[in-house]
Amino acid sequence: MVTYLEAANAPLKNTGQIKLYGDDAFAGVRLASRLVADCLDALAPMVVPGLTTAAIDRFVFEFGMDHGALPATLNYRGYRKSSCTSINHVVCHGIPDEKPLRDGDIINIDVTYILDGWHGDSSRMYPVGALKRASERLCEVTYECLMAGIAAVRPGNRTGAIGAAIQAHAEKERCSVVRDFCGHGVGLLFHDAPNILHYGSPSEGVEMRPGMIFTIEPMINLGRPHVKVLSDGWTAVTRDRSLSAQYEHTIGVTETGCEVFTLSPKDLDTPGITPRI
Ligand code: MF3
Ligand code: CO
Ligand code: CO
Repeated sequence: MVTYLEAANAPLKNTGQIKLYGDDAFAGVRLASRLVADCLDALAPMVVPGLTTAAIDRFVFEFGMDHGALPATLNYRGYRKSSCTSINHVVCHGIPDEKPLRDGDIINIDVTYILDGWHGDSSRMYPVGALKRASERLCEVTYECLMAGIAAVRPGNRTGAIGAAIQAHAEKERCSVVRDFCGHGVGLLFHDAPNILHYGSPSEGVEMRPGMIFTIEPMINLGRPHVKVLSDGWTAVTRDRSLSAQYEHTIGVTETGCEVFTLSPKDLDTPGITPRI
């Protein structure tokens, strides 16, 4: 049986109960999320061939520090970086390093800040130079999947409606949905109940209620859905080495639908128009 409780009365850990947040929490997550969006916006013009993911990570760290926020990934379960940078066939949790980006790469940059105790978590795809049509299309489909999932968020629907909408769109476009990672409750904690699956049926999952805050973060592959984690313990890659993309927003359930906290104030969180080969 799933239970819900007022976040203000909740222990600061994942008990499996679903926290229902009030106005103060929404204001806090809104601010943390806005900072994440601003950071991801600032990275847009920087992502060009030759840039290293370590340089991206340093920027994410400094940007957080400059605005009073801590990157949530830093020392999280042994992770040692301020961001995840996942290139091409890397599905998620790519570890920043000194390898330069190359023309035609697609990269997901995933940033979570803790500001005043509140978490905001978002990721986007960035084109590196000119893309092949297939890479560009995968990013578009993945973004559309995220937005289809967000459109299914409203009180009374189950979280399965989100997964069903994402899966239907991905498979219509002959792409596959990664099953091994999911969205998650967020707010006072980085990863909290409930899990938000990116596949499934509308009758599954828990009923959404106003005050819930969680992420939706579909990982979509051009090939098969299966992943493996490399020996570094983090980097998840597609087993068939096909391209993978991901977009992530932090959202809050409202009386009528949802508020997307991590939207770009500059409209830079969409695949947009990319130069093409
Ligand atoms: N930001 C990721 C997410 O969307 C989690 C990264 S955890 C890390 O949930 F340890 F890999 F950084
Ligand atoms: Co997340
Ligand atoms: Co994230």
